Amino acid sequence: MTKHQPIRLAVFASGNGSNFEAVAQSIQKGEVDGELALLVCDQPGAFVLTRAEKLGVPAVTFTPKTFESKADYEREVLAHLEEAKVDLIVLAGYMRIVGKTLLKAYPERIINIHPSLLPSYPGRQGIVDAFMDKVEQTGVTVHLVDEGVDTGPVLAQETVAIEPDDTIDSLERKIHAVEHELFPKVIQKVIKKLQKEHV
Ligand code: GRF
Repeated sequence: MTKHQPIRLAVFASGNGSNFEAVAQSIQKGEVDGELALLVCDQPGAFVLTRAEKLGVPAVTFTPKTFESKADYEREVLAHLEEAKVDLIVLAGYMRIVGKTLLKAYPERIINIHPSLLPSYPGRQGIVDAFMDKVEQTGVTVHLVDEGVDTGPVLAQETVAIEPDDTIDSLERKIHAVEHELFPKVIQKVIKKLQKEHV
């Protein structure tokens, strides 16, 4: 028996899902004190769904363009989150801007991981943009989500050096390795804070 109610997480992802898997494994190892209640995927056929099946995580997939509006789509997502009693949303490669419906339902309870040192290089191509700019360092940011694109208060950042012999591929590998360590740690910190608030 734990002292606190377990915090229930939903991970939102659109693609490969390596961060989803890192979070799921950290939960299984007991390093993150939460329950992975749901994977929300907006891309039918994404590899993250295969990972979820293997790990036994319930998943729901949507095709957002079949909804009349973003609000309609998010209302449907919200119904699933409520049914799964989700406390905290974790965006892990979710390639969509979160709208008002979800932001209102989960104030300061949506976090995102981004592959750059925000506010530098927001958007879809954070790794490539930093590499092309020939900067000496880039990194990883975990932040609270607001209505902007990769804005919102920063919770943690870690730097990754870009060495002269790096390629986009090698840089991507280094960044992902940092993400897989940093994200579960920050999620655990957020969970602890939420548990304190619940006491
Ligand atoms: C990560 O680099 C994350 O920072 C960004 O999207 C990528 C997702 O990778 N938001 P994966 O699907 O977790 O492997």
